Amino acid sequence: MTTHAILKMGDPRLLEVSKPVLINLISSNEIQLLIDELLETMYSANGAGLAAPQIGVDKQVVVFGFDRNPRYPDAEAVPETILINPIITPLSDTQEEDWEGCLSVPGIRAKVPRYTKIRYQGYDRNGGMIDRTVEGFHARVVQHECDHLIGKLYPMRVKDFSNFGFTEVLFPEFGDGPPAE
Ligand code: NI
Repeated sequence: MTTHAILKMGDPRLLEVSKPVLINLISSNEIQLLIDELLETMYSANGAGLAAPQIGVDKQVVVFGFDRNPRYPDAEAVPETILINPIITPLSDTQEEDWEGCLSVPGIRAKVPRYTKIRYQGYDRNGGMIDRTVEGFHARVVQHECDHLIGKLYPMRVKDFSNFGFTEVLFPEFGDGPPAE
């Protein structure tokens, strides 16, 4: 099993805009290995998602998904998804604030405004098209992960810093384990 160190906020590589993957290279060893390493790193860190820039790779690849995440006990399950070259289209003007964390911002949680309903499109690991319309936490996770591909970390989206703090203080019931994205 190959897991990677996850870059933390402050590393300039997290602020770069990632490059699209050439479609005929999705099946290459390089991209397939990247996908496997993203999945393994996400699961070993108990994350809800992970983006390639977080392991220092400036390519438009994100992974996300979980059945039940102990860090988000109220969140509905999200299917395991590998998403390459994503495009997000908001389907409502409404944004809603809710709690997020990030494996690149360990120990912190904040309420972040996100579109409540989106369509997202992209490629899966076999080069097949993904085209989904989703709401709620699923929509939130996709927006969070795709933000990594344009060099945005969730603290840059926070509007109200009275809802920004240490996980152990905000949610003492979670203990001091690694916070998930
Ligand atoms: Ni993140």
